[in-house]
Amino acid sequence: MRTLANAVAILNQKGGVGKTTVTLGLASAAAAAGHRILVIDLDPQGSAGWVLGVDPDPSAVSVGDVLDGRPLSDAIVGSAWSQHVDVVPAGDRLQDFEAGDATRLAAAFFQAGDVLAGYDAVVIDCPPSLGNLTTNALAAVRHAVVVVEPSALGLRGIGGVADAIDVVWDSHNPDLELSGVVLNRVPGVSAEAERRIDELRRIVGRQAIWKPSVPARVVLNQAVGERRSIHSYASRASGPIDTFDKLWGKLRRTVRQA
Ligand SMILES: Nc1ncnc2c1ncn2[C@@H]1O[C@H](COP(=O)(O)OP(=O)(O)OP(=O)(O)O)[C@@H](O)[C@H]1O
Ligand SMILES: [Mg+2]
Repeated sequence: MRTLANAVAILNQKGGVGKTTVTLGLASAAAAAGHRILVIDLDPQGSAGWVLGVDPDPSAVSVGDVLDGRPLSDAIVGSAWSQHVDVVPAGDRLQDFEAGDATRLAAAFFQAGDVLAGYDAVVIDCPPSLGNLTTNALAAVRHAVVVVEPSALGLRGIGGVADAIDVVWDSHNPDLELSGVVLNRVPGVSAEAERRIDELRRIVGRQAIWKPSVPARVVLNQAVGERRSIHSYASRASGPIDTFDKLWGKLRRTVRQA
């Protein structure tokens, strides 16, 4: 079973490092460029879907149903942001799949190959764990992108993430690649952050770290609370907008080379 070249998992077992922020920033940039993106919310917290304007609806088809065998295309809804951004919402049932078969999502992706190939990228926002949901994501995608904060604690879990990618590569998905590391919440000036970025370069290699990194900016936090895309803040968010435009360009080149 081959994975789709345009499928990407955004992950880290550490909570609150910016997985959802990066996923949404990429979706915002894709829409601004007129490209199509599908965001799959694989986190039981359901944050990505909520920010994209999908209100919790127990009767709606969600990714839990997809893991249970329902066709993926049944669960795709439009976002409130743009006609270029679609969503598969997390829903209530996702906790049921914290254990079990690791290849359910891969099977659903395979069946929905034609629909998914219509997007420039299919991006999965993973939960903060390396449990079965994240394993399902890794088994279904070609590209793993790890979001990391440049702090001592932020770097501590990176080895575990790399090991998890290796295990899934070995047992389920020989197409899987650690395609990039996105540094998030990088302070303007900080010797400590610089040291940690150097350390990360030594661990994953200079090439693996995508440029530019995402700065710490209040407007990124505000956008989540207001359920808005970062691009909708225009000049107030020009720094982060430029960052995500470039990261989206990098992601597009990555999936097209694959
Ligand atoms: N670069 C940034 N600048 C300012 N605030 C940020 C930045 N990145 C993330 N945040 C804020 O930090 C919090 C955590 O971010 P986010 O939800 O994206 O992390 P996460 O890794 O998806 O978390 P979880 O593990 O719970 O899914 C959010 O309130 C978000 O708005
Ligand atoms: Mg999240």
